[in-house]
Amino acid sequence: MSVKKFIAANWKMNKGLVQSQQFAEEIRAYYEKHKISHIDIVLCPPYTSLEAVHRKINGSGIKLGAQNMHHESMGAYTGEICASMLKSCGAEYVIIGHSERRQYCNETNATINKKVLKALDEGLKPILCIGETLQEREDKITEGVIEEQLKSCLSHISEEQMESIVIAYEPVWAIGTGKNATPHQVESVHNFIRKKLKKMYPDDTAEKVRIIYGGSINPENAKELFALETINGGLIGGASLEVQSFIEIINSTH
Ligand code: PGA
Repeated sequence: MSVKKFIAANWKMNKGLVQSQQFAEEIRAYYEKHKISHIDIVLCPPYTSLEAVHRKINGSGIKLGAQNMHHESMGAYTGEICASMLKSCGAEYVIIGHSERRQYCNETNATINKKVLKALDEGLKPILCIGETLQEREDKITEGVIEEQLKSCLSHISEEQMESIVIAYEPVWAIGTGKNATPHQVESVHNFIRKKLKKMYPDDTAEKVRIIYGGSINPENAKELFALETINGGLIGGASLEVQSFIEIINSTH
């Protein structure tokens, strides 16, 4: 089954209001001029720019995502942001379980599962990040790690809910390092993920789930990656900060 490709920009802790709005304006102009409809494009700015970016892209077809959320609905969690707040800013998607959050904020598969469940409950679509570390790859336990992440992070997710989830395979050693996984490496893990999803869900549900790749994607390597049918799009960090390189990546999906 062929699914619509999905490209998300993860700006991480970059861009203030002015830069965020400028980027959103420029990408909207390009998107509308070229009548892009063959892929889903999602911008994931920092929390502080969500609403402003939403105003700029509203009605264009470009979608908004956040980079994280808390797993509770609301309450005394100073400094945290919940799903309904993200929705009220116009977010449709939310990145959950990014390896930087696993690494620096001690997020575990169990907390990530709570976030995925809450996001779905509140009507947000999770972009669930999974992936092995360099040590795990060298120890040849990549598949075991991925399987455990899938099982734990997707615990109690119904068949219907699964269709709203995008899975981002992001090998930790390829993120922000300039060292991207080869198409062959990505393809082999993506096939493994699809196989596991088919064990967990009916085939037609598992086939609808988009499995995207993230890790040092840039305008030079994007075409080769996106040419593969098993790679349903990308989660772009560094190369999504400049409009021009992001546009080149979007164009690599043809
Ligand atoms: P990168 O980041 O493209 O800068 O490697 C990707 C990500 O962390 O989602």
